[in-house]
Amino acid sequence: QSPIESSMVEAHDLLRKFYHHLLVNTKEGQDALEYLQGRGFTEEAINKFQIGYALDSWDLVYKFLIKRGFSEDLLEKSGLIIKSDKTNSYFDRFRNRIMFPITDHQGNTVAFSGRAMGDDNPKYLNSPETAIFNKSRILYNFQKARPSIRKKEQVILFEGFADCISASTAGVDNGVATMGTALTDHHIQLLRRNTDTAVICFDSDSAGLEAANRAAGLLIDSGFTIKVALMPDNMDPDDYIKKHGADKFLHEVIGASLTYTSFKMQFLRRGKNVNNEGDRIQYLEAVLKEISKLSNAVERDHYLRQIASEFSLSLDALEKQLKQIYFAGN
Ligand code: CTP
Ligand code: MN
Ligand code: MN
Ligand code: MN
Ligand code: MN
Repeated sequence: QSPIESSMVEAHDLLRKFYHHLLVNTKEGQDALEYLQGRGFTEEAINKFQIGYALDSWDLVYKFLIKRGFSEDLLEKSGLIIKSDKTNSYFDRFRNRIMFPITDHQGNTVAFSGRAMGDDNPKYLNSPETAIFNKSRILYNFQKARPSIRKKEQVILFEGFADCISASTAGVDNGVATMGTALTDHHIQLLRRNTDTAVICFDSDSAGLEAANRAAGLLIDSGFTIKVALMPDNMDPDDYIKKHGADKFLHEVIGASLTYTSFKMQFLRRGKNVNNEGDRIQYLEAVLKEISKLSNAVERDHYLRQIASEFSLSLDALEKQLKQIYFAGN
């Protein structure tokens, strides 16, 4: 770490404490605290994840950090303040937002994401890429989750901050979040150095399912064994836990997560009406192609029987079809 980089980290660490203080100890932070409580964030979670609040002010952070000796140039490069082209003066990037500090894998605060409390756009405002923050290399909560990931020999992948935090409150301490970005090679290599098993627990809306399908493929290509956890009604893990509680989440979502092939069978079915002959044939072809990739004969047999039974097809016919696909593909 260069001197400039450690100075940037120092500013972020100071600001993390300041934002947290504003949230939990001040009158100005009261609405924000109530917003979080209303969403079911516990005091313990607020402390553990060092959640904070950026006041509705144009220059509170600017003044706070300048007074502590940081230069305008450094703060601008950190993304914490922004220079106005018109007035040539600086203003705070984050105003009137719930602040989630983002740490690197040593635990240094390197960035923030600020959530609007209303319907402001964007919902989450993030620090820009800086010398100390590269979103494609950082997973939210990785530093805290790492010992548990190693111990449980498994990582749980979430999309968002709230998912990761609610899951933690529910007892899942081996969870990390991609923060909405696509899972990158860097993320995967980082995880792979710690475990070879992943449960993908993205939002169960269509964007989340697409992302889960993509992540699953990449993880498998990197030698992971994966499962995919799904929730009903387009929910995300945070919604689910708040609605159904920790126990149901652990048993009926994480505990009931699907094998890759089962997920794929469900995924390939989206938008298709299998009562329609054309759709059904398309679906069966796609599923058989997926099954043909399995190297384990027992697994292949398991899924073939499942399909044979659901669609009243003979196992024999399915096996023949599978062989054809296999030989066509080789
Ligand atoms: N995200 C982001 N910028 C946005 C929207 C989302 O960086 N404008 C990231 C955040 O890390 C967010 C994650 O993507 O947590 C998942 O996005 P989404 O599912 O839309 O948000 P939730 O995490 O469900 O947010 P909330 O529960 O607070 O509504
Ligand atoms: Mn505290
Ligand atoms: Mn989402
Ligand atoms: Mn979500
Ligand atoms: Mn959510």
